[in-house]
Amino acid sequence: MDNSLEAYTQKYDKEGYGLQYPDGHVIRFYERILKFELHKTSGNLLDFGCGNGIHSQYFKDITGGGIEPYGVDIVPSLREVWDNNKTINPKNFHIIKPNSSIKDLFCVKMDFIFANQSLYYLTNSSFKETINEFYNMCNDGAIIFATMMSDKGYSQYQRGEIMPNGLCEVKGCPTGRIKGSSYIRYTHSIEQLKEDFRPFKPLFWGDYELMNLYNYEGSVEHYIYIGQK
Ligand SMILES: C[S@@+](CC[C@H](N)C(=O)[O-])C[C@H]1O[C@@H](n2cnc3c(N)ncnc32)[C@H](O)[C@@H]1O
Repeated sequence: MDNSLEAYTQKYDKEGYGLQYPDGHVIRFYERILKFELHKTSGNLLDFGCGNGIHSQYFKDITGGGIEPYGVDIVPSLREVWDNNKTINPKNFHIIKPNSSIKDLFCVKMDFIFANQSLYYLTNSSFKETINEFYNMCNDGAIIFATMMSDKGYSQYQRGEIMPNGLCEVKGCPTGRIKGSSYIRYTHSIEQLKEDFRPFKPLFWGDYELMNLYNYEGSVEHYIYIGQK
């Protein structure tokens, strides 16, 4: 099965996976871009591939409830995690099948799309479809923030060829962080990044490294895309 459901089910159910605090680049995105540069701190936010909901919780907390989060993920056990979260509204969060449509899941329009380290698990066609769905789910002026894996990412792991659907198998190793196989759609350049997120208009772009441990994960460079409807 060329999706990452099995690998992420293992991580969440058996390995205690999931951040307990928001990631540094997300805090900087909020503080520097949303608050300081764009003055956008309220509205509905879709957290795509939201995991345990830590970033949804962060956006709601930091804005004193100004941002109302909605979310989707693929791992069934996350339902219980969301139900036990005291900040987010679990009714706004849905388990979906990998690469499925989300256009009819929400009855509100979004002011923010937030996809931290999740969209690169989608096939070419599903990625395109999802970007179009995002666009249609958004109010005019909505902001999208997404990170995509650069092709330097996980270079120390064994990688398969790029398959016709755009995904590339990254084989885990028993002693590394990735144990099962993950399937990743790599981004090769900033030009591709901007093209992939059309019809959103690019505002800011760049990259970050999670933590560059040469002899553990190798590079985990991710591109960052911030755009607007
Ligand atoms: C690296 S984790 C990031 C989780 C969360 N966004 C965060 O920032 O903490 C990737 C997440 O994407 C989810 N995911 C993987 N494939 C997906 C897909 N096809 N559709 C939606 N979510 C997916 C995983 O279950 C996992 O929760």
